[in-house]
Amino acid sequence: MNVLLVGAGGREHAMAWTLAQSPKLTKLYAAPGNPGMAALAECVSLRPEDHAALAAFCREKGVDLVLVGPEAPLAAGLTDDLLAAGVKVFGPTKAAAQIEASKVFAKHFMARHGIPTARYAVFRRHAEAVRFLETVDYPIVIKASGLAAGKGVILPASKEEALAALEAVMVRREFGAAGEEVVIEERLSGPEVSLMAFCDGRRAVAMLPAQDHKRLLDGDRGPNTGGMGAYAPAPVCPPEMVDEIVETVLQPAVSGLRLEGAPFVGVLYAGLMLTERGPQVLEFNCRFGDPETQAVLPLLESDLLDLALACAEGRLNEAEIRWRRGAAVCVVLASAGYPAAPETGKPIHGLDALPEDVLCFHAGTKSVDGRIVTAGGRVLGLTARAATLREAVEKAYRAVEKVEFEGRQYRRDIAVSGLRHGIAD
Ligand code: AMP
Ligand code: GLY
Repeated sequence: MNVLLVGAGGREHAMAWTLAQSPKLTKLYAAPGNPGMAALAECVSLRPEDHAALAAFCREKGVDLVLVGPEAPLAAGLTDDLLAAGVKVFGPTKAAAQIEASKVFAKHFMARHGIPTARYAVFRRHAEAVRFLETVDYPIVIKASGLAAGKGVILPASKEEALAALEAVMVRREFGAAGEEVVIEERLSGPEVSLMAFCDGRRAVAMLPAQDHKRLLDGDRGPNTGGMGAYAPAPVCPPEMVDEIVETVLQPAVSGLRLEGAPFVGVLYAGLMLTERGPQVLEFNCRFGDPETQAVLPLLESDLLDLALACAEGRLNEAEIRWRRGAAVCVVLASAGYPAAPETGKPIHGLDALPEDVLCFHAGTKSVDGRIVTAGGRVLGLTARAATLREAVEKAYRAVEKVEFEGRQYRRDIAVSGLRHGIAD
């Protein structure tokens, strides 16, 4: 099979690495790809926004399946345009991608289908949102409805901060059109888990549960980032709980979207909080998580290409999903200044010294005169697999020591919550 992968980050590198294991893969293209992916795929300089050029490329090269990594092209209808051109796609249509692209849609959708989530209210007008704030007697979270590159969620510590947040989102429009509508929801507490599922429009089949580390600094301090590391499987979400989440969240969501005329094909990602009332949805994403994917896919034993094709052809019931034993840990190395203003262009040393069995996924790198330099906030994700979570953590951090670039920052406590959970058990 000829396969095209759309995207350029660490998630897409992990997808490419996993696809490359498939005996059915003839040729992998990546648009636009990155220097890490270049060893596995032919990188073509087509932009994800240029749907017509991507469709033409697929026809010219006889591409059998397209996998779309990031949410923006999905929300912009890339799948719809490729399907219309007769190309098979692993990734939802624009209508189904609403589950991530509009938090207002997602909340109303969950209410319609009885999917457990925090109480909420929706506002278009600033004055009404302010009035609502005066009446609530519980802690809240403020969310810009649209896509805001992971930055549209504010957890105010006081009423003053809440008012300032509403002003920033609704009046100053700091997240642009994403802030046209705002969700104010009840603040929940508990450990978080990310559960992704393969979906073929009818069924949802869960992957291993993972935990992401969104804050920049150890101990979950500092600003929110795109994710500083992840590990899987997360002991906080044992197999019985995975089944419960499939039954109460993922399958109802896939069935609900189908019922509403927007069948979901691709990866549905539920970001959940495990509360005293049971698992509650914080957000849905319409794609693989980043960096969860860099920890989850290396544990997939089945053929990702088979699975993705089965999803695209609506026959996931025929596919078998097996996972390797053990655990995987991904530690992200980020640039100085990340997330506010990352420094770039720094040469990366030590990539050749990495042990064979550690996976190095490129996220923000560039090749300049044959040398790999930093080119973004998150630069690399180093994933180690081992029989136990503890061994995987040790292996990942030994690898981290080997890679250097100026100003490199990373968290020292990736998966520590998972290790603690093991002890508490
Ligand atoms: P989201 O982008 O919706 O996943 O939100 C980013 C982060 O904000 C989540 O990972 C949670 O840590 C936090 N968050 C979102 N919604 C809530 C909520 N209702 N209660 C508590 N924390 C939340
Ligand atoms: N790791 C969170 C996300 O992919 O949105």
